[in-house]
Order: sequence, then C-alpha cells, then structure tokens
Amino acid sequence: MAQHNLDNIDKNEYPHINRGLDGIVAFSTTKSFIDGQKGELIYSGYNIDVLADKATFEEVCFLLWNDRLPKKTELEDLKNKLIAQRELPKPVLNYITSTNKEAEPMSVLRTAVSMLADFETEKTGDKSKDDRNHAIAMTAQIPTIIAAFDRARKGKEIVSPLKEGSTAFNFLYMLNGKEPGEAAEQTMDLCLILHAEHGMNASTFTSRTICATESDMFSAVTGAIGALKGPLHGGANTAVMNTLLELEKDGEKADAVAFTKKKLENKEKMMGFGHRVYKTFDPRAVHLRKMSKKLSEETGHVKLYEWSEDMLKTMKEEKDIDPNVDFFSATVYYSIGIQPDLFTCIFTMSRVSGWSAHYIEQSENNRLVRPRALYIGEKNLEWTPVEER
Ligand code: CMC
Repeated sequence: MAQHNLDNIDKNEYPHINRGLDGIVAFSTTKSFIDGQKGELIYSGYNIDVLADKATFEEVCFLLWNDRLPKKTELEDLKNKLIAQRELPKPVLNYITSTNKEAEPMSVLRTAVSMLADFETEKTGDKSKDDRNHAIAMTAQIPTIIAAFDRARKGKEIVSPLKEGSTAFNFLYMLNGKEPGEAAEQTMDLCLILHAEHGMNASTFTSRTICATESDMFSAVTGAIGALKGPLHGGANTAVMNTLLELEKDGEKADAVAFTKKKLENKEKMMGFGHRVYKTFDPRAVHLRKMSKKLSEETGHVKLYEWSEDMLKTMKEEKDIDPNVDFFSATVYYSIGIQPDLFTCIFTMSRVSGWSAHYIEQSENNRLVRPRALYIGEKNLEWTPVEER
C-alpha cells in the first residue's frame, strides 16, 4: 500500500495539503460565526447566550432560514406548519416499526429521512419556497422518527404527535407517552437551540457539498446525518455517557482523575474534549455545564456530574484541552431520561435546521464543490496479465 509520507514531494510542484481541511475557508455564510479564541458563537447576528436566554427553538429555525427574527404572525405560521407536518407517511412508519430492533438509532434515522423524499409535499415550482417547505417538513418529522423507533424497539405502542405544543414538548411526549413538565420542556428546548448551527463542521460541509451538485435537500440531510453519526463529530455525546456509565460500574472505587490520566497515558482520546476551532471553553458547554449541575442534583445523578468536573480539571491540567458541546450535553440528556444511544439523534433533531439553512444559502449562490487530491501513487506501470500476477 502507498505510504502517505509527503516528505519527498516537491513542494514547488505540488500544492500544500491542509490535512482535514484545517483552516481552509470553503464558503461564505450568514448563518453563524465562531471566534475560537474568545469562545463566541453567533447565529445570524445573535449571540448564542442571548438566544439561550430569550429564544425558542422555532424562532431559531426561522432566524437561520431567513437571517432575521420572525414577527409574531410569522412565528405562529411557522409553528402551525411544523405541527401540521409531524405525522409520518405510512410506509416510513412501517419501516421504523419493522426494521431490526437492535439497529443503531442513527442508522434508522438516516434511512427514514432518506425515505421522506419519496413522499415530499407537492412542489410549488419556486425552489426557494420548496426548499423552505422541505426544511420545515424534516424539522417536523425527525422527532417523530426518533420517538417512534425508540418505542417500537422497546415493544411499546407508537405515540402519535400532538396537534399543539413546541417541538421540545411534543418530542418528549411522543418518546415517553406522557406530557413533560415545564422544566423538562425548557431543558430540551435549550438543548435544541444550542445544537442548531455551528459553522463549517463536517456534517454541514457534507450538506453543502451535496447541495452543490444540485441534488435535493433530503439527500443533503441524509448525507449530513451520516457524517454527524461518527464519534469524532456528533457521536461523541453517546461515547461520553458510555464512559461515565462505565465508571459508575466501579462503584465506590470509581476515580475519574485516574481514569482520565490512564486514557491520556495510553494515547487514547477523551470523548467530549477538544475542538478544531475552539481553543477555549466552548460557549455552548458553558450553558450545558450549568444545566448538567442543576439536573444531576435534582435527579440524584450527582456523581456523574462530579466525575465530569474531575475529568474536565484533569484534561485542563494535563493537556490544556477544554470540553466541547458533547461533554455536558450527555449528562443533561441522561438526566431528563433519554437513553445514551439516542443522544446523537437529538443532536440531529436540532442540527437539521442548520443543515437546511446552509442548503438554502448554497442553492442561492452555487458552485460545484470539487477540490483536488495529490496523487502519490505510481504512474504508467506495465500491465501484467492476470495469470502472471
Ligand atoms: N483527548 C485527548 N487528546 C486530544 C483530544 C481528546 N479529546 N482532542 C485533541 N487531543 C490532542 C491530540 O491527541 C493532539 O495531541 P498531539 O498534538 O500531542 O498529537 C492535539 O490534541 C490536537 O488534536 P487533533 O486530533 O489534531 O485535533 P483535530 O482538530 O484534528 O480534532 C477533534 C478535533 C474534535 C476531532 C478532537 O479533539 C477529538 O477527537 N475529540 C474527541 C471527540 C469529540 O469530542 N468530538 C466532538 C467534537 S465537537 C462537537 C461536534 O462538532 O460534533
């Protein structure tokens, strides 16, 4: 196999490769801004701290899709449209209830979202309108897919979506079969706001790349789900929770500091830490940390929170690495009764707003995404017949 050693490459003849596209600016956008040194995140002009304090997830969706806050009537209109589209087409529901109960929830979600394309609402002929309708449809239906699969795999009856209430309220209702309290709804809503959009991360880049071929939004979101699923991206929140639950098994002997040091000694990664852009505390983790503390005290999971703090301190001391969004979101979701293998699906439920916003933006000013690769293999080898190889 060819060695990917670039030391012998003539640097004048070949372009520099930024591994992992580190530092490459591939698109311009009005959707979000990240200051990785300051730890600042802005969605279409509004600081995440302001949105966390004042907005609802539905307002954030409108903001991302339109680059401005909705007027009262526009917000009502969006909420009504989201409610009207919550039901799944029968064949999609049939797939969810008949697929392998052991399947990964993110795989089921990816397949179901792809199927939604076959039942898309009538096209108006206006691409900008159709794209916004598709964004609304997927934002409305993804929570239904997640809740339906979780209940189906547990042998529970599927709960139909409500004809009222917020995305957060309706999701928790469909998942648990009972209406959530105000605190749970607010926590869920805040998590949706914090995960909605985040610059040119791997899944958003995927969504824009698919859009740039003039493919449809369902394909772009399906591809983005595949990218988000990986443990270096959205899959990290599940990995964080599994780590904490492993530690819990040690009972009285559990030692998060020693655990973290050992991982680092073994050159293993601590999930939920590190970021390509933030070189300081992720501003979303600031909110999630507060929530995690409050909720773990309220729900009797205080040890999980304390271990998280021990890990955080050790990572800072040993490697000067801070936590990212996935670190405290794990204990937050766990505290409101969500199973770890659904965490990345919850991320998807929110991030679909950002992916679709980027799709709309890319469509409005498109150019095919087509970078190049540096060929480091042999050239013009002599052909050997199969019998002689
Ligand atoms: N644990 C231990 N060491 C780490 C970690 C970590 N989580 N993250 C980075 N490092 C070290 C890494 O080993 C390297 O050290 P050295 O220079 O000694 O080799 C240095 O920090 C630079 O790391 P890198 O892997 O080159 O950084 P990257 O920008 O390529 O990767 C990352 C960013 C997020 C993939 C990485 O930090 C990581 O794997 N973190 C764990 C997975 C995770 O939490 N992912 C969620 C990312 S945020 C939410 C999202 O976007 O989905």
